[in-house]
Amino acid sequence: MTFHPTMPYASGEQHASERVLPDRGEPFVFTPENRRRIEELATHYPPDRRRSALIPALHIVQEQQGYVSANAMREVATVICCTPAEVEEVVTYYSMFYTKPVGKYVLQVCRTLSCALTGAERLTAAISQKLGIKVGETDPTGTFTLVEVECLGACDRGPVMLVNDHWHELATPGSVGALLDTLRTKGEAGLSGCHLNVDKKEPTKDG
Ligand code: FES
Repeated sequence: MTFHPTMPYASGEQHASERVLPDRGEPFVFTPENRRRIEELATHYPPDRRRSALIPALHIVQEQQGYVSANAMREVATVICCTPAEVEEVVTYYSMFYTKPVGKYVLQVCRTLSCALTGAERLTAAISQKLGIKVGETDPTGTFTLVEVECLGACDRGPVMLVNDHWHELATPGSVGALLDTLRTKGEAGLSGCHLNVDKKEPTKDG
C-alpha cells in the first residue's frame, strides 16, 4: 500500500501550459553551429524526451544572445519539442537566466541569512552607491548589472557574490569599490574564487 498518488506522467496526461508568449524582443535564430550543438545534446536523451535538453539549450541561447528573449524561448520550444510557456517557466525560475539585456558583468549578491548576518545588505548598498544604480539595474556604461539572489552555497564565507559564473567570497563594503575597478581594468583577475575549489589546490612547499 502506498500513500503516494499515481502520477500521470507515463500516460502523457500531465498538464502542459499552452499559454502564448507575447511577441517581443529581438528576433532569434540559432547560428548553424549552435543549432548543431543542440542537436548533439538532444542525442543524449530518448527521442521522445528532447525537452530534457532544455537547460543546456538555454545556456547556448544566453551565450549567443546575452539574455533569453521571448522570441528565443519560442525558438527553443520548437527545437526541443515543448511549449514556449514551459520554456518560460524554467527561464523565470532560475536566477542564472536573464530575460532582458544585462551588463558585461552580472553581480549577484547573496541575501540569504548567513550573508545577511555578515553584511550583505551593506555590500549591496556600497555597490549601488559606487555604480549609481539600484538592484535590478545596469550601469550606464553597460558594464555591471546588480541583482540580489538567494544562497550561493558558500555560507561560511559571506558575504558572497557571484560575478557571472565566478564566486567572490568574503566581500566587504570597504573593498568592493576596488574590486569593481579591477573588474573594469583587468577582468575577473581580482575575484577571490570559491573556497571549495581554492582549498582543493595542491599545497605549495611553503604550505
Ligand atoms: S547564505 Fe549566502 S552563500 Fe549561503
